[in-house]
Amino acid sequence: MLSNSLIELDRAHLVHPVASYRGHEKLGVRVMKSAKGATVTDMTGHQMIDGFAGLWCVNAGYGHESIVEAAAKQMRELPYATGYFSLGSEPAIRLASELADRAPGDLNHIYFTLGGSDAVDSTVRFIRYYYHSLGTPQKDQFISLEQGYHGSSTVGAGLTALPIFHAGFGLPFDWQHKIPSHYAYRNPVGTDPQAIIASSVAALKAKIEVIGAERVAAFYVEPIQGSGGVLVPPDGWLKAMHAVCKEYDVLLVADEVITGFGRTGPLFACSDDDVVPDFMTTAKGLTSGYVPMGAVFMSDNVYNTIADGAGAAAIGHGYTYSAHPVSAAVGLEVLRLYENGLLENGVKAGARLMAGLQSLADHPLVGDMRGRGMLAAIELVTDKQKKTPLPAAADPSRRIFDRAWDNGLVIRAFGNGVLGYAPPLCCTDSEIDAIIERTRMTLDQTLEDPDVRSAVA
Ligand SMILES: Cc1ncc(COP(=O)(O)O)c(C=O)c1O
Repeated sequence: MLSNSLIELDRAHLVHPVASYRGHEKLGVRVMKSAKGATVTDMTGHQMIDGFAGLWCVNAGYGHESIVEAAAKQMRELPYATGYFSLGSEPAIRLASELADRAPGDLNHIYFTLGGSDAVDSTVRFIRYYYHSLGTPQKDQFISLEQGYHGSSTVGAGLTALPIFHAGFGLPFDWQHKIPSHYAYRNPVGTDPQAIIASSVAALKAKIEVIGAERVAAFYVEPIQGSGGVLVPPDGWLKAMHAVCKEYDVLLVADEVITGFGRTGPLFACSDDDVVPDFMTTAKGLTSGYVPMGAVFMSDNVYNTIADGAGAAAIGHGYTYSAHPVSAAVGLEVLRLYENGLLENGVKAGARLMAGLQSLADHPLVGDMRGRGMLAAIELVTDKQKKTPLPAAADPSRRIFDRAWDNGLVIRAFGNGVLGYAPPLCCTDSEIDAIIERTRMTLDQTLEDPDVRSAVA
């Protein structure tokens, strides 16, 4: 009764992100009720392992009392303090300092946002200001990767390269350019890592030269492309792309909104790639999804150039909730948990997850497995030689998602038949094994669908 009325209220009033509004009205909402560790429970009492950590964000797992306590304590003491007028709060200052200590290289300056989209949006503003400060405001062209996702703000959605974020929105802007993704499984140059790196390097150079290096401001990249289908570049790819940026005097923005905070193993994926970008954007795992927060990391050079460029004038970029003390208090506690065993467990669980997914290689529908740490995907095909995607009519994003759900597993089922995994770092061995078993069961059932079966045969 209660859940029925919630479904009606939702249908009537709640606008959902990235959804077909009419499709959602027809389906109705599934209301989540509670969660603990890696297990989520819906309103009907159905329990599932959350193989996607909410939206790749609850890295610490659900139900940590110490996080709840940190938030409650801060709310009692000081629920809000602005950062305007040179005011501040202790947790925000401490979190900025702890993050700077752990960030790659000289990414010593932190601007807090409410999430990833406004972190990306902020970098665009900072980068424009940076070049104005240097006296080269004509450097105003931005490059990103096909299949990339950089959020849903007005400008960030144009750096994003997923068609639904553009169609109907008048995006991308003409100053937003794309080069092909490294997408190893379907790269026209084949799967050889060196060939993929060479091809991406050539594409970036060619794009910069066509636009003119004197016009190119920045290159945006996710260390592993998430929403584009968990696309993992070959080792050395990011470093090679960074070298091109340095050669042409182009800033590198590493968008670590998904890859940050233990998702791929270390706190930041850039460290594994041995790259120090000019900016790093983070969110999600920063507070493990318990409260909203994002962070832009800025290098000494960028910060000082902007600061000196502005002189005594205020730099007109700010949010009411930047450096929110409750979010910062949560961020500090989450960081403590990561460093008190969660990162370590994530590395162990990630290795088990990857081995488990690899064990699915013999399944007739599995064309590719890829991942790093607790970020992974399998790509389903109906012909392994030809890499034929599942028929669109099989509607993988709905049918496979629903089936996994019924089997007690939440995964990300992309429209093109890629299944994404980003479980909480707290997963036990048996939870990882259950993710694999339930995936196999879901694949077996899908193989029995007449349309899929006939496409395979
Ligand atoms: C790489 C990347 N950048 C930016 C964003 C946007 O973050 P948010 O949804 O918190 O605005 C996301 C979200 O998934 C992301 O994956």
